[in-house]
Amino acid sequence: MKGRESGMPEEAYWESFFDAARVLEALVGSQPMVGDVVEFGCGYGTFTLAQAAHTTGTVTTLDIDPLMVARTRERAVSQRLENVVVSERDFIAHGTGLPDGSQELALVFNLLHIEDPLALLAEAHRVLHVGARLAVIHWRSDIPTPRGPSLDIRPTPEQCAAWMAQAGFGDIRNVDVTSGSPFHFGLVARRRGTDES
Ligand SMILES: C[S@@+](CC[C@H](N)C(=O)[O-])C[C@H]1O[C@@H](n2cnc3c(N)ncnc32)[C@H](O)[C@@H]1O
Repeated sequence: MKGRESGMPEEAYWESFFDAARVLEALVGSQPMVGDVVEFGCGYGTFTLAQAAHTTGTVTTLDIDPLMVARTRERAVSQRLENVVVSERDFIAHGTGLPDGSQELALVFNLLHIEDPLALLAEAHRVLHVGARLAVIHWRSDIPTPRGPSLDIRPTPEQCAAWMAQAGFGDIRNVDVTSGSPFHFGLVARRRGTDES
């Protein structure tokens, strides 16, 4: 089932809000990502394509919406990004299907307002190896924004950080992503090992 209020507006309008490369650079740096990346919800591929251009491994991106899947696939092909795997999948109902500890980075962008954010973060935790990174962005609620879910379900950075800690992430940091979108906040964290407190 599609997460609540997770439909997309028209592509050009959505992409007018972001400089995707800058958002990603702020979160994970400008060095190429060595290893595999999973993205929860590709949408139009806004961040998929920018991440794939800086990843040596595979970027697996999952979305329940066949139109989003088709568009992201089409864009990856036209940009000759051969390391993008786009799957139509309900990751809320069925998880990612990726092996435990297989990923170097998980992207959860504009999604943590869904009904059960903890279950989604638990799946991100499962597929990341110990020490691997989780990156989150979401719409700010401290300023007016042109899009974003209703304020009553829109999580704050503090709420996201609390969920991330609960799901087993540590080293949680706020990241200023305003160079890539003035309307968003960002967080990064690392997957803790089972023996770390
Ligand atoms: C608000 S959009 C964000 C897309 C992308 N992360 C971005 O920031 O550009 C959320 C995406 O998650 C997808 N989605 C919602 N519920 C889902 C589910 N249960 N399984 C897979 N994808 C889902 C929607 O189809 C939509 O493309």
